[in-house]
Amino acid sequence: MNVLVINGPNINMLGIREKNIYGSETYDDLVNLIKKSADEKGVTVDFFQSNSEGDIVTRIQQAYEKYDGIIINPAAYTHTSVAILDALKAVSIKTVEVHISDVDEREEFRHISYVSLYASKVIKGHGFNGYIEALNYLCEG
Ligand code: DQA
Repeated sequence: MNVLVINGPNINMLGIREKNIYGSETYDDLVNLIKKSADEKGVTVDFFQSNSEGDIVTRIQQAYEKYDGIIINPAAYTHTSVAILDALKAVSIKTVEVHISDVDEREEFRHISYVSLYASKVIKGHGFNGYIEALNYLCEG
């Protein structure tokens, strides 16, 4: 099984940004955690992080017929991007949406998610472990 893990804007700033919300571990720590879990499961994972909406759309398009699953934390684009939603619909790959923080408990503008209109599952507020739960879900088929 091949899984693509996509992280949106400012996720590269983990460990620096709002530690009270996102914790003190870095993006590299996140990647290593997911890699370790994927290795144990015999899953191949590729990673993509971008601060640009268009680059995320392009990466999703490139995933067409190449991946069995996508794990995506669209970060701030969650709440604004119809383009990312449309790209996911276009490639029709099973998708899990992950948020490190519990967006429902935060500002009202974070309660809206366009990607949720496509995602098979949404995991919020479970920290980095949410990505592992997403991987487990995709492995369950
Ligand atoms: C986030 C929540 C978003 O509202 C925010 O813009 C992020 C990260 C999360 O993982 O909790 O950048 O997606």
